[in-house]
Amino acid sequence: MEIDPWASKGVQNYKEICEKFGLDTVDHTKLPSPTHLHRRGIIFAHRDLNNVLDARKAGRPFGVLSGLMPSGQIHLGHKMVIDQAKWFQDLGGDVTITIADLEAHATRGLSLEKCRKYAIEEYISNYAGMGLNPDKTSIYFQSERPIVQKLGFTLGKKTNLSEMEAIYGFSGETNLAHVQSPLVQAGDIVHPQLDEYGGLRPIVVPVGIDQDPHIRLTRGMVSKTNWFNVNQNKAGNITIGLSIQDNNQNSMGIREDGGVDKNRREKVIAKAISAIGKAGFSQTNANPKHGTIDVKDAVNENQNEIRYQLLKLEREMGGMGLMQPSSTYHQFAVGMTGGKMSSSQPETTMFLNDSMKDIEKKIKSSFSGGQATVEEHRAKGGNPDVDVAYQYLRYFFEEDDNELERIRNEYTSGDLLTGEIKAICIEKASEWMKNHHELKDQNQHLIKKFLK
Ligand code: TRP
Repeated sequence: MEIDPWASKGVQNYKEICEKFGLDTVDHTKLPSPTHLHRRGIIFAHRDLNNVLDARKAGRPFGVLSGLMPSGQIHLGHKMVIDQAKWFQDLGGDVTITIADLEAHATRGLSLEKCRKYAIEEYISNYAGMGLNPDKTSIYFQSERPIVQKLGFTLGKKTNLSEMEAIYGFSGETNLAHVQSPLVQAGDIVHPQLDEYGGLRPIVVPVGIDQDPHIRLTRGMVSKTNWFNVNQNKAGNITIGLSIQDNNQNSMGIREDGGVDKNRREKVIAKAISAIGKAGFSQTNANPKHGTIDVKDAVNENQNEIRYQLLKLEREMGGMGLMQPSSTYHQFAVGMTGGKMSSSQPETTMFLNDSMKDIEKKIKSSFSGGQATVEEHRAKGGNPDVDVAYQYLRYFFEEDDNELERIRNEYTSGDLLTGEIKAICIEKASEWMKNHHELKDQNQHLIKKFLK
């Protein structure tokens, strides 16, 4: 069982994924103004989300970065990423959206020109109708922001072919542009922390669960660049450890011959102690020779504040000072024919540029959880868990939890027939699409602002 971000295999068992890859589950009752995606468990898992929510609570800045490959027509599934970015934006975050044209070129065999055309006509023009605030949103093409490629290259020093094989199943035949694309994605994810793009702050990456391998890779590489490791120790407090690297030997008090320069070592320890003092911690016990500091008045929950101060110090000392990104994950709606949703099979999904007629047709012939005959349906009831009309109401078109619950109960009891639940879905979908197309048309002028 592994996740392949390019195979669109779909995930069978979300709980298993959480356990295997160490994801935390989202508790929507602890979130500020949760959306229907949170309330219904569709956004179900995260990494380190508290780092972002704590920053927000303390009135400190945070950012959101996500992206999509412009490899065809934009469909409903793609919209979930933008909806989540908007939710974080409404909570105060700045938003950066990547148009992953290099990735699409490397993995989907499209020319960069074709990607650009899809990006503008399909993706960005629809984003314009999704309520992002143009003053706090920036959209860019991977191919046009060299810094993300350069960062990918730099971070690439912290991984190797074996790890790439283990995470992605790459083999001898994998083309090297494909191998590079997750590194560019790592560059995408960390670049908002650079001073030119807003500076050191928590960055959250809202994505579908298929993207977690990239998050794992990025978090791993980032933590290996850090000059100060922060970990919980056996006593339940925090221990800071100096991380000696090629580019910091001097600052860390390592002599040319590899020995410890006592004076310089004591200096860096003193700097670290003063840095964590800014986070309010003072009960320290340092071992300069080993390069460790125990912080006795800090516990696990204080890790992020301590890390933040040490990353600031690392930057002052000449390091990159990068924070590991946070992430949230959504589940996937089923395809309209009951299998996977896929852009290359138009009957499996609703495109945002579909006409009302297309939509009606697709819902009418969508996979149903109803019974074969009316009599049987009345007796046994339908199964909403596999019923496309119900699932699309749940994912996309019915905002009201009570109304959704009512539909679910009536369908399960057999009161609501297959044709009837499809009719409800068609009505709601048409209303939603009409509204989206209006917003989109009204807001085309935003495209220029997003791309600045
Ligand atoms: N890999 C993503 C996709 O397949 C696109 C992407 C590129 C991305 N860079 C990103 C997503 C950074 C999130 C964050 O759609």
